Amino acid sequence: MNREPLLLRALRGESIERYPIWVMRQAGRYMEEYREMKARHSFSELCLVPELSVEVALQPIRAFGFDAAILFSDIMIPARTLGFGIDFAPGPVVKNPVKTGTDIQHLPQTPDLSPIKTVFEAIRTLKGELKGEALIGFAATPWTLACYLLDQKPFKHFERSLIWAQTEPLLLKRFLELLTVLTIEYTIEQVKAGAQVIQLFDSWGGILPPEMYQEFSLFYSNRIFQKLNDAGAETILYLNGAAPYEEQLQTLRAGGLSIDSKCSLSRFSATFPKLALQGNLESTILFSNDVESKTKEMLNSVNRKTSYIVNLGHGILQETPRASVRELVETVKSYAIR
Ligand code: CP3
Repeated sequence: MNREPLLLRALRGESIERYPIWVMRQAGRYMEEYREMKARHSFSELCLVPELSVEVALQPIRAFGFDAAILFSDIMIPARTLGFGIDFAPGPVVKNPVKTGTDIQHLPQTPDLSPIKTVFEAIRTLKGELKGEALIGFAATPWTLACYLLDQKPFKHFERSLIWAQTEPLLLKRFLELLTVLTIEYTIEQVKAGAQVIQLFDSWGGILPPEMYQEFSLFYSNRIFQKLNDAGAETILYLNGAAPYEEQLQTLRAGGLSIDSKCSLSRFSATFPKLALQGNLESTILFSNDVESKTKEMLNSVNRKTSYIVNLGHGILQETPRASVRELVETVKSYAIR
């Protein structure tokens, strides 16, 4: 019996007896246990006080038996090391966003991780609490983090980032470079603390025209993945809106690719036979009255040669019925591949 966590074996392309399952945002507002914690503590406290962060990360493992725990934190937390003030309302609010090239030139050039070192303590504790589950650490891709840190006013869909790419490409690249250095240090520290997998979230990579995706996002993500691969970690890129980038993604240096529900899983399996694919499940099937048969239908359609990890196409929605999550996990766990 192989004792390595199932998720790691799937990411390495090893043979597995069933598909592993976890869901993005598995700890959060759809869970009553989380809402109780949130009534007593701010979101930043939940992210930065190790006992609280560990407790929240364990809630979905205890409740549903997912195959992996993900660090409880947020993609915005490391931006604090560059002097950005971050609030959550509930989405990220940056108190001092980048408005001009001078703002970029004045940022510290060497990130100091000490203000967020409790994250690594949380990972060490969480690792000790897990039985057979894999431990996932994470960060945003430099492009997605930059989207939040650049002042977007008056736009609503991160158009300002695309405007910087047109008018100030060199300054934008200098910023992406700094965020790359920060993310390498931050994720390597997570691996040293015990994270076995690092997932980079490119939640806004999908706003870039395909030829710019390589230049402004994938190039930087790949440099991070290369360092993580060298450090022996498993790696996943989550790309929201991945469908137009099949050609660019040929150069992806991660072992896994997590796709949203608008992508065709069979098409991605055919295009990327060597990658482990994750995600793709439409979040709203958890509101249907037949989660079991919809899940089985999806699993039946997975190419048997594909290393596949069950997950949603985006974060689990608030108000998702608890019974549906249980039904999803039970269906996946009792579905034998061969
Ligand atoms: O369980 C987990 O997945 C781990 C924790 C986690 C959170 N955010 C907790 C959170 C992770 C991995 C993230 C990633 C994250 N954060 C992303 C990438 C994934 C994606 O959704 O594309 C992004 C873009 C963010 C930025 C962010 N933080 C947003 C947009 C929001 C608002 C979310 C919402 O549901 O309205 C946050 C706040 C946040 N991060 C919450 C949680 C549980 C809600 C906080 C609350 O309780 O008020």
